[in-house]
Amino acid sequence: MYLNYPNNPTGAIATKEFLKEAADNAEDYNFIIVYDNPYSEYTYEDYVAPSLLQIDQNHIEINSSSKMFCMTGFRCGWAVGDKDIISGLRKVKSHIDSGCPVFIQKAVIKGLNEYKSGEKPIIVSDIVKIYEKRRDFLVKSLNDIGWNTDKPKATLYVWTHIPEGETNSMEFIKKLINEGVVLTPGTGFGTYGEGFVRFALTQPIEKLKEAIERIDLVINGKKK
Ligand SMILES: Cc1ncc(COP(=O)(O)O)c(C=O)c1O
Repeated sequence: MYLNYPNNPTGAIATKEFLKEAADNAEDYNFIIVYDNPYSEYTYEDYVAPSLLQIDQNHIEINSSSKMFCMTGFRCGWAVGDKDIISGLRKVKSHIDSGCPVFIQKAVIKGLNEYKSGEKPIIVSDIVKIYEKRRDFLVKSLNDIGWNTDKPKATLYVWTHIPEGETNSMEFIKKLINEGVVLTPGTGFGTYGEGFVRFALTQPIEKLKEAIERIDLVINGKKK
């Protein structure tokens, strides 16, 4: 079973109890869990995302430098957990490619070695602070223009229902595109995403401000 919390696209988080239930099911029904956890560090205020391996070590967890160190262009991921599963993964992977370039691996090792305690090291917490400011700005601004949206506790995404009066994610997105704003329609993630859109906090606050002004035009323009 593949699980991903904190979740892309919804920003949903998993409690330790939820992970325990998943691990208990895995034991009862004899399956393994791949816990895809690239947003483990993108947590806000005092929220800490649990690792599945804190609960049960018979599974694997994967993470990625793209998110943890904001090294999106240097694609490097890693897996930790059960020895036999890792060994199988290693065997398969060695037949697929010849590995991530060594200079990237060295940079990632340096980054991971910054973890000296349970706390996020400064090189990571400084990045997360930037995303937290963007999250706070975006969610407040959306609420200010009448688009009720909650703050996610984690991830670099803001997942929200389409504004009142809109009935279809894609149609709403098209109106925004005409104003030069691109969001991801919830349906891009599957049929259950209908009625939702996903914002990515990957732009600086100045750009988000501009986007909000244009969104305001689309959802409130006629009323003003
Ligand atoms: C849930 C999840 N897993 C994995 C990845 C892949 O990360 P990368 O290929 O950049 O290492 C992403 C990237 O968006 C993601 O959202």
